[in-house]
Amino acid sequence: TDGVGRHEIARRIRTIADFPKPGIQFRDITTLILDPEGLRLAVDGMVGAVQGPIDLVAGIEARGFVFAPAVALALGAGVVLIRKDGKLPGATIAEDYALEYGTDRIAIHADACTPGARVLLVDDLIATGGTARAAVRLLRKAGATVEQACFAIDLPDLGGADALRADGITVSALVA
Ligand code: PRP
Ligand code: ADE
Repeated sequence: TDGVGRHEIARRIRTIADFPKPGIQFRDITTLILDPEGLRLAVDGMVGAVQGPIDLVAGIEARGFVFAPAVALALGAGVVLIRKDGKLPGATIAEDYALEYGTDRIAIHADACTPGARVLLVDDLIATGGTARAAVRLLRKAGATVEQACFAIDLPDLGGADALRADGITVSALVA
């Protein structure tokens, strides 16, 4: 995505102060995807950052589910759902991760990835990286090869993208 494209994406993302709690500047992608041009720019930007063949695109519940199928269709890949624990019907593997207060748990079907499947991780936003790093641990436990992740938004001051890079992931984001 070039500078103009980044601006065209950034200006469609709304920031809402003090949601879900005081002090948080919430980056709201609903306004980006309401606009057909915004949705297209975001998906094309994610697809354009991908290097080499991808077998599966893994989206993280809930906002990652908006982008993962669109990116997968463009790449000729399938989709893996990474869900909050307790939602998937089959046998699962799970990972805990830290939130600002307490912990949460995400899961995938144990048989979602064939061994060595090249998986691209997709989410709307990376902040602390807790969610994305847990997703990478989960996919790797399932036998996947995970080397790339793309996000619509990076909040670089929170260090998540750098932490994910330290885990061996090439990280791209459309706007920071
Ligand atoms: C948001 C966002 C990412 C995560 C990023 O999801 O969509 O998944 O937080 O934060 P982190 O980098 O600090 O882990 P949230 O947990 O709010 O769930 P939602 O998509 O269901 O709203
Ligand atoms: N997830 C974590 N931090 C966020 C933020 N500032 N805006 C939207 N989603 C988030």
